[in-house]
Amino acid sequence: MKLDGKVAVITGAGSGMGRAIATLFAHEGANVVVSDMNLDTAEQTVKIITENDGQAISCKADITDQSDVETLIRQAVDAYGSLDILVNNAGMMDNMYSAGNISDSLWSKVMDVNVTGMMRTIRESLPIFLKKNYGVIVNMGSSSSLNGSRAGAAYTASKHAVLGLTKNIGFQYAESGVRCNAIAPGAVDTNIGTTMSEPDEFGMSRAMSGSSNNPRSGKPEEVAQIALFLASDDSNFVSGDIINADAGWMAY
Ligand SMILES: NC(=O)c1ccc[n+]([C@@H]2O[C@H](COP(=O)([O-])OP(=O)(O)OC[C@H]3O[C@@H](n4cnc5c(N)ncnc54)[C@H](O)[C@@H]3O)[C@@H](O)[C@H]2O)c1
Repeated sequence: MKLDGKVAVITGAGSGMGRAIATLFAHEGANVVVSDMNLDTAEQTVKIITENDGQAISCKADITDQSDVETLIRQAVDAYGSLDILVNNAGMMDNMYSAGNISDSLWSKVMDVNVTGMMRTIRESLPIFLKKNYGVIVNMGSSSSLNGSRAGAAYTASKHAVLGLTKNIGFQYAESGVRCNAIAPGAVDTNIGTTMSEPDEFGMSRAMSGSSNNPRSGKPEEVAQIALFLASDDSNFVSGDIINADAGWMAY
């Protein structure tokens, strides 16, 4: 087992890729803290794990709330004694709003969830990692971390920021036993589309203009395998980097 005895916190683990990562990590021997702002779905993930003899607890945490984030990391340590792996998976779309049409409130919300929330969990985890001279961070980026128009302006800017944050931590803590990498999935079949309502027509049409080049959508389980590689010692020499996973879409 690749994560035997490791303690992993996974945000947004009540659905989609977070759920797939949580179940795979538990299958690989990790003690998993299944965290989501939606407690019901987090508990469903825990049920899937424990019914398959894995170890997991749920924790309701909205990553835009500093006190929730503090509780999340404390609960991991209280339940399992430490923390080894942090997967920052929680994220939201931006209704494809173009720069000309986006509101301040939507821009701020997307940044708060996709970037600032990630910074909060990392900030809370780092003292634990630094004390034990060991810690692995996996951040969920997107094709939008590397391309300009796969979504709206806020989502694209936020996922580029995820890559910047990943590189910053990858270098600055490289001599402290902490690794930090990101994943850049293309389109993946999850529930994220359900968070979109009344998309911006112009932004949507520009974002979709290259979608006919997409060979196929991915499955959450395919992305979970990349998270496992980055979270395990198999990737000990990899940090500050991003793995693109899109069936060849970006190669066009
Ligand atoms: N699905 C795709 O095509 C795709 C592609 C590239 C990147 N991503 C990224 O993958 C990640 C996971 O998305 P998914 O596609 O599995 O979506 P999903 O909607 O199935 O799951 C996202 C989960 O995050 C949770 N969440 C949202 N905001 C939160 C918050 N503030 N605090 C805590 N939890 C929160 C939701 O409750 C949900 O359970 C996101 O960061 C997303 O941007 C998705």
